[in-house]
Amino acid sequence: MHLQLHTTSPEETEAYGARLARVLQPRTIVGLVGDLGAGKTCFVRGLATGLGIAPDEVHSPTFTLIAEYPGGRLPLYHIDLYRLEGAAIEELGLEEYLFGAGVSAIEWFRFLPSELMPEYMLVTIAFGAGDDERVLTFSARGERYEHILRALMSSRSSEET
Ligand SMILES: Nc1ncnc2c1ncn2[C@@H]1O[C@H](COP(=O)(O)OP(=O)(O)OP(=O)(O)O)[C@@H](O)[C@H]1O
Ligand SMILES: [Mg+2]
Repeated sequence: MHLQLHTTSPEETEAYGARLARVLQPRTIVGLVGDLGAGKTCFVRGLATGLGIAPDEVHSPTFTLIAEYPGGRLPLYHIDLYRLEGAAIEELGLEEYLFGAGVSAIEWFRFLPSELMPEYMLVTIAFGAGDDERVLTFSARGERYEHILRALMSSRSSEET
């Protein structure tokens, strides 16, 4: 099950993040795939907004792989695996987040071994024709995430702020 959307500005990509966040439930995994500068962190800022967390706090962590943002409707765990060294993954204690109460938003999601989690929402961000154009593809893996994706599809854009 897929949903594909085009955006023409960072604000628009963020707005879709916020819209997804509003239909998320506890213990959800949002995997982000896309090249450097595609807009993964931008999307996570939108997730923060949609959860009621100040989006300005969210940026690409340079030294930490995991940043935790409490205080919203659900806690947000922003995980960026870009600097992950191959063998270190077991040492991160990721399970605490992935199976915790909040929303795990994971940049460079492909660095995770696929057997670690069978179900998740995959958000792929690709560059479009123009500098500010992006193509967002939402793919639900597992029944629970298909339900979330259906909720996203039927959420009205007027709910965006
Ligand atoms: N439609 C758009 N959606 C998202 N970002 C856009 C868009 N148009 C332009 N941009 C710009 O693209 C950049 C996206 O940066 P961002 O840090 O979100 O990327 P990233 O995928 O997290 O990169 P990295 O892999 O380095 O973490 C920002 O500078 C943003 O302003
Ligand atoms: Mg980033």
